[in-house]
Amino acid sequence: MLFGVGLGPGDPKLITLKAIEVLKAVDEVIVPGRLAESLVKDVVKPRIVEFPMGRSREVTIKLARELAERCVDEDVAFACLGDPMFYSTFQHLAEEVLKMNPKIEIEIVPGVPSFTAVFSKIKRFVDVSMLVTTLKEEIGCVVVLKATKPKEICERLRSMGMNEIYLAERMFMDGERVKKLDDLPNRADYFTIIVGMR
Ligand SMILES: C[S@@+](CC[C@H](N)C(=O)[O-])C[C@H]1O[C@@H](n2cnc3c(N)ncnc32)[C@H](O)[C@@H]1O
Repeated sequence: MLFGVGLGPGDPKLITLKAIEVLKAVDEVIVPGRLAESLVKDVVKPRIVEFPMGRSREVTIKLARELAERCVDEDVAFACLGDPMFYSTFQHLAEEVLKMNPKIEIEIVPGVPSFTAVFSKIKRFVDVSMLVTTLKEEIGCVVVLKATKPKEICERLRSMGMNEIYLAERMFMDGERVKKLDDLPNRADYFTIIVGMR
């Protein structure tokens, strides 16, 4: 299995218990640089694989080739800063591994993302709609909180050009329901997020 493990925004104390458990359990931990290494060094001794500008694609393909074979029988964790699902090296690596060997199982351990952690630093609460962007492309993903009226929300998202709709109810809790949906229910639990993607 290949794990993508989030290490949070930079303080080792913001690494989750789940991440530590996985880092200790796997056969090898790979990190993309010294900063990530410094965060995990008290837990495991990782292998550093750097992705230098200009050679990043070449390094990704080489590592993907290795992991596409090894992760059939072995567990390897790729541990990176923040959350591995956002703007991360892990995306390219996981996509290449799956292209080379679609049978590889991929598990994600979320980390505290920099774009939520920043509000603890600036000491501002957020109760307005929020855009997370690199300003380099159009909006390709909309996250709706307090999504207790999925049908209504889905129509709004479709009108914004989002045509893949996901409902995530009670994530990581008892009664979890996470689905890609065409036909959304009228009502959902208070702990529901809807994600629309282009
Ligand atoms: C390639 S993205 C990775 C984002 C990461 N996967 C996450 O979930 O936070 C790198 C960008 O995240 C932001 N970033 C990540 N960690 C940060 C930190 N500790 N302080 C400020 N910005 C940070 C910066 O804008 C940086 O250019």
